[in-house]
Amino acid sequence: MEIIDKIIFPPRHDHILVSDAIIIAITVIYFIYLSFLTGATLFSAGFIYRGRTEENPFYTRFGKDLIRMAYSVKGAILLGLLPPLALALAYAQIFYGSGLEVARFFQPMLIFTLIGAGLSLFYCKLLEKTHYLIFQILVAVAAVFFLFLAAYGLISVNILSFFPEKWMVIKGSIPHIFDATQFVRLLHFMVFTLTVTGVSVLFFTFNLSGGNVDADEQYRDYALKFGAGLALAGTLLQPLFILWTYKAFPTIAESLQGYYVAAGLMAVLYVLSVVLYLVLANKNPRLGSLAYVLMVLATLVLVVDDTIARRTGVKEQYLYLQDEAAKFEEKLALEREELKSAGGEISVARGEQIYNARCTSCHQFDKRVVGPPHVEVLPKYVGKPDELVKFILNPVKVNPDYPPMPNLGLSQQDAEAVAKYLLDRYQKYQAQQGKQ
Ligand code: HEC
Repeated sequence: MEIIDKIIFPPRHDHILVSDAIIIAITVIYFIYLSFLTGATLFSAGFIYRGRTEENPFYTRFGKDLIRMAYSVKGAILLGLLPPLALALAYAQIFYGSGLEVARFFQPMLIFTLIGAGLSLFYCKLLEKTHYLIFQILVAVAAVFFLFLAAYGLISVNILSFFPEKWMVIKGSIPHIFDATQFVRLLHFMVFTLTVTGVSVLFFTFNLSGGNVDADEQYRDYALKFGAGLALAGTLLQPLFILWTYKAFPTIAESLQGYYVAAGLMAVLYVLSVVLYLVLANKNPRLGSLAYVLMVLATLVLVVDDTIARRTGVKEQYLYLQDEAAKFEEKLALEREELKSAGGEISVARGEQIYNARCTSCHQFDKRVVGPPHVEVLPKYVGKPDELVKFILNPVKVNPDYPPMPNLGLSQQDAEAVAKYLLDRYQKYQAQQGKQ
């Protein structure tokens, strides 16, 4: 993906806004996707293991349903492929000229996502086909490992802007910043996985087009407790991470926008906790849809928060981008000018064609034919191509020794080309005379 860094041009202000918006939208989808797949695979493997060792078919069934839930939306696996590509483009714009080839970080992310999602799907199929527990668990663990790597990459790129001073020393395909932030963010991802998985269990068991219809009373009861409990645990833990970020990065807390967004995030998490609590306490799974919406909203606010952090954290980069965009516009304008004059070359050639076709019956350059030799009449037009064009388009009587020149009905463009050609050739003729 190094190619992306090469084709990118300095973004203008409106491009940056679009890039930021793309980053926000895609990161939300990608984050939920990764957490969901990671959580579903991990917990499914846990239940399968428990079901087999305790010889309790209930857990085995629950484990199977958990991973099937991930693949119940047809083609959902493809959802994981687009984000790294789209993010690579958007980030490359924002980090333009920073010396950081940011697009290269998305290549391993794409590969890890592919392998992780592929293994997780393989695990899902294995549950139907073989009974080798160890093999099943190993595949699931491998899937989780790769999905985790992808998440690690995403988190690392996400916090790049917190550390502009490290940009120059970052090597490799995953930005290892080696800072507590990276570690804390990874923990946050794990906790977030609990929320996403729990909420998804509620959503898929009870809400999605009637939910899991085969579920009996005991099963529903268990799914409700497990889903809401898991999600509630994850949600209650999240504020810790938000507070940590604010303590570690006073610059983020400094911006008023960032402050409001963080307060908003806390509010959303609070409402989500209350909803999950109500699901648990009243055994009312219908609120699961609301929990799902709130979970997506929380993710959105979280990512917006990061975007604001980026904007305050790397003000210089954004200012630099503004500068570069202005320079780039200038360069474009220059190139356009050059193209125009290069078009001039073409029009001389075209002028020669027209001259040979339309004028040579009456004119030669240095001999009198029907009309006067050009060398005699052109001196007065040197430096005044417009006047020559005017004459060609509309010949007027000039010299009593000659008959009038007829109007040849050339177009404005053709007349300009011929005039250019004539003056050009006259200049060369003069230069040659000067040498002799
Ligand atoms: C049918 C013959 C004829 C053709 C074809 C013709 N010319 Fe002429 N041209 C003349 C004559 C005759 C004059 C002299 C007119 C005068 O002095 O009033 C003249 C004069 C000129 C002059 C001198 C004007 C001046 O201010 O003294 C220019 C320049 C010229 N022609 C260019 C062209 C070009 C360019 C073409 C082709 C697109 C062209 N002519 C085609 C007959 C022709």
